[in-house]
Amino acid sequence: MAGIALATAILVQRYLGSLARFARFVGELSGEQEPAMPRLPFAPATEELASAAATLAAGWRRQRASIDNLAQSAQAIVDGLPDPLIGVDRQRRIVRTNRAARALLGSIGAERDLSTVLRHPALLSAIDALLETGADGNFVNPDQTAVDLVLSGVPEVEVIAHARRLPRAAADGSLALIVLHDTTALRRAERMRADFVANASHELKTPIAGLLGFIETLRGPARDDAAARERFLGIMAEQADRMRRLVDDLLTLSRIEQHEHARPDSAVDLARVLAGVRDLLQLKALARGVAVDIAVDPGLPRALGDYDELTIVFQNLIDNALKYARAGTAVKVTARPAGTDRVAVSVGDESDGIPAAHLPRLTERFYRVDNARSRQLGGTGLGLAIVKHVVNRHRGRLDIRSTPGKGSVFTVTLPVVP
Ligand SMILES: Nc1ncnc2c1ncn2[C@@H]1O[C@H](COP(=O)(O)OP(=O)(O)OP(=O)(O)O)[C@@H](O)[C@H]1O
Ligand SMILES: [Mg+2]
Repeated sequence: MAGIALATAILVQRYLGSLARFARFVGELSGEQEPAMPRLPFAPATEELASAAATLAAGWRRQRASIDNLAQSAQAIVDGLPDPLIGVDRQRRIVRTNRAARALLGSIGAERDLSTVLRHPALLSAIDALLETGADGNFVNPDQTAVDLVLSGVPEVEVIAHARRLPRAAADGSLALIVLHDTTALRRAERMRADFVANASHELKTPIAGLLGFIETLRGPARDDAAARERFLGIMAEQADRMRRLVDDLLTLSRIEQHEHARPDSAVDLARVLAGVRDLLQLKALARGVAVDIAVDPGLPRALGDYDELTIVFQNLIDNALKYARAGTAVKVTARPAGTDRVAVSVGDESDGIPAAHLPRLTERFYRVDNARSRQLGGTGLGLAIVKHVVNRHRGRLDIRSTPGKGSVFTVTLPVVP
């Protein structure tokens, strides 16, 4: 009896030992690492159970990995969106942001109310309306809305906030998604277009008013005054010519703008361009008593560009230099390689120069340092705007340097044929 009792006790103890190992093994299955399957010779049924549990745990681990994967891909997609995105829950707390939102608004603590990062009453009440439910628990307002905002900061950013309610809350609790789309550039372009139309109309109005005035005078008081008629016709021709130049420049500008994004790709011999421009401007140079000296580096590589457009560029720059150079001086044009893959063409004059404050704005349309003087010299104020556009289209650069009292140097750098 004692022997049987002892044997039973030993067996029971081993069995219990196996069960304890089994329990530990099952406990460890829920951890990150897969535990080593224990040998359980004294409880064969438990060994089967253990292997079934291990299979379950492996399946569960695979599923969790794929869920983690999905969540990561979802966040990666949201992070990849260029516009800031914010997800808020039913209580308007922020539960998700993407990278652009964090870059714009700084790091946002989880579960903070939207008003802590975007203090815009119009947006907050739009979101409240989006999340509002009636007595029956149903939403009372349409599921999307948009609000224009100005985000303070330097510089200010104008955005349109598009907000949309999801059909039901997402796994992270997001019930409404807010996307902020930057409209600063768009608004600036709209304002520029409006300014441009106003400026262009204003520029045309003056010569038109002048022409009408002279026509009145010629029909009335000066009808029989031959000398006055001659003089007035001269002025009228000048005004008409001014309008023609303005319209020509506007058309050139709009033509270049239309294909600003296409890169010109012919091989252009800049020596030929510059010689052509000198011929075009020879009469003007003679009249102003200013020489045009051109020095082209003998080994100058050919530029990658468009012959006609580059002619317009240097015609404008040399024309400006001739307008402002002091009589008896020379406009110096030099073309030389710049680095391994660029050429630089400079147009320098000896003149009163341009005060530094004006330099950054010279290429704006209709911008003139001295309105009266430019008009009197026949300028429309569009020349450098055209130059800038052409140079941009060529992926080149325009640098302007000027020393008051001495003169200015305009340098165009262009890519060469590879
Ligand atoms: N070489 C220069 N020396 C001094 N001022 C210049 C020179 N080039 C340009 N400017 C200034 O820049 C302004 C803008 O030049 P831009 O060529 O765009 O216009 P414009 O010469 O007046 O007219 P346009 O060239 O359209 O006939 C000029 O009005 C002038 O004030
Ligand atoms: Mg000009």
